[in-house]
Amino acid sequence: MNASHDYQRVYVWEQPVRWFHWINAVCVIALGATGYLIAHPPGLLNGGEAGDSYWFGTIRFVHFATAYVFMFNFLFRLYWASVGNKYTHWRNFFPISKPQLRQVAAVLKVDILQSSDKAVHTLGHNSVAYFTYMGTGLLTVFMVLSGFALYAPMSDSWFPQLFTWMVPLFGSEQNLRLFHYGALWLFIIFTLIHIYLVFYHDYVEGHGVLSSMVGGWKFMEKDAIKAEEASGISGFPRRKRRPAPAAAPGAKPDPVP
Ligand code: HEM
Repeated sequence: MNASHDYQRVYVWEQPVRWFHWINAVCVIALGATGYLIAHPPGLLNGGEAGDSYWFGTIRFVHFATAYVFMFNFLFRLYWASVGNKYTHWRNFFPISKPQLRQVAAVLKVDILQSSDKAVHTLGHNSVAYFTYMGTGLLTVFMVLSGFALYAPMSDSWFPQLFTWMVPLFGSEQNLRLFHYGALWLFIIFTLIHIYLVFYHDYVEGHGVLSSMVGGWKFMEKDAIKAEEASGISGFPRRKRRPAPAAAPGAKPDPVP
C-alpha cells in the first residue's frame, strides 16, 4: 500500500485517441474473426434456398468494409500524432534517446524477467509499450497494403488497384496471402499480451491505466509525477526552440511578420 495519498489527476488520453483505440480494437477483432473464417471456411450445409445461405458473402463483406474503417482510423491516429498532446506525439514511438532505452531495460526487468519489483511510473505509455505500438503500427500498414492488394482482382474500384504492386514484391498472390495470414497471428499474440499487461499494470501500479482509455485520466503521486516529468521520458518533450540571439546594441528590431 502507498504511504502517500497525495495523488494528482492528469488528463493523458484525449478523446480522439480513445476513439481511435476502441475503433481499432473492434476492427482488429472483426478483421481477425472474419479473416480466420475466410482462411478456414467451415463446410456448412443447409437445405434452404441457395440464395438464402449467403453467409460467407456476408463474412467477406464485413472483412472488406472493416478494412476501410481500420485504414482511415489509423491514418487519423497518424495525423493526431502530430497535433495531439505530448503523450500521443509521434516522437515517443521511436527508440532514440538513452533515457527511453534505460526505461525499456527497467520495464523488462519488472514485466518479463521479474528480477525487480521497482515499478516504473509513467503518465503516457512506458517505453516498451510505445515501441510495441510502433510495431503494431507497422503491422497495420502491412495488413492494409497486403489486404487491398489481395482484394484488387475482386474489385472494380480504383482504390484497391493502387496496391497491386505488393504482389510481385512477394513473388505471388499465394505468398502474399500467407504473409497476410501470418500477420493475423502476430495481432492475436499482441492482443493477448496487451490485455494481460494493461490489467497487470492497472492492478500493480494503481494509476488507473485501464480506465484511462475510457475517461482519459490517470492518477499518480505528485512526487512520482515530478520525477517522471523531470526524466523527460513520458510524453517525450517537444524540442525546445533555441533562444534568439541577443540583438546587437543599436540594431533595428526585425519587422513583425
Ligand atoms: C479488452 C481489450 C482491450 C483493453 C482493455 C485495452 C486497454 C488499453 C489501455 C488501458 C491502453 C493504454 C495503456 C497505457 O496507458 O499505457 C491501451 C493502449 C493501446 N491499445 Fe489497447 N486494449 C484492448 C484491446 C486492444 C486491441 C484489440 C488492440 C489492437 C490490436 C489494442 C491496441 C492498442 C494500442 C495501439 C494502444 C496505444 C494507443 C495509442 O497510443 O494510440 N488494444 N489499450
